[in-house]
Amino acid sequence: MELSVNIDHVATVREARKEKFPDPIHAALESELGGADGITVHLRGDRRHINERDLALLRKTVQTELNLEMAATEEMARVAVEAMPDRVTLVPEASGEVTTQGGLDLVNVKSDLEPYISGLKRKGIRVGIFIDPDMAHIKEALKLGAESIEINTNEYTKAKDKKEETLRISSVARTAKRDGLIVHAGHGIDYRNILPLLRIPEITGYSIGFAIIARALFVGLRQAVGEMNTIIKGA
Ligand code: PXP
Repeated sequence: MELSVNIDHVATVREARKEKFPDPIHAALESELGGADGITVHLRGDRRHINERDLALLRKTVQTELNLEMAATEEMARVAVEAMPDRVTLVPEASGEVTTQGGLDLVNVKSDLEPYISGLKRKGIRVGIFIDPDMAHIKEALKLGAESIEINTNEYTKAKDKKEETLRISSVARTAKRDGLIVHAGHGIDYRNILPLLRIPEITGYSIGFAIIARALFVGLRQAVGEMNTIIKGA
């Protein structure tokens, strides 16, 4: 079970003052020292937190897996090929959104992502897609040549009764794994709501940002990552 720490919010604080600190590069190092198996950053079209300078330096300094979340645009393909993260996770991006609003709609929005994905794979970048927990998306993700999916856990984290959403995520994860996809999960996960998800063996990786960075304000980032890591690996 792996933990990829999303460090976007460290850059959000930096950009609030347009300062040089806190530096996401420092955050990546602290996260790795806390036991992170990977570092995730989302390069947005408006560059409101992570920017190209961060990405280039992270590529040079991150010793675990570097995962770049990005919209499937031509601009981002160029950035990815230049930066060469280990993995790219394709996400939808709407201007003005506070955070990613949902998974990539592979069913209703027919965009031909197959050449886009194969182009990144040919360069040696592994490609995953962020999807809502819905069986129809798995079939599409496979057709497009994705190697992994990240199941959007937002609905789950908002649900009062987690049982139904846990079952939904669990059956999607099982099918995806059976069909050969690596299964990750993320969005809105915190130190408590992760517990039922950890009983789903098909989910082998978690992408967690906000809860860890928020806790880091009080205990420091290395410890905040360490605590989440203990929960994940101890399950
Ligand atoms: N996964 C994806 C695709 C995301 O867009 C985000 C938010 O940037 C996360 C995971 C992490 O979510 P959170 O910050 O709520 O842990």
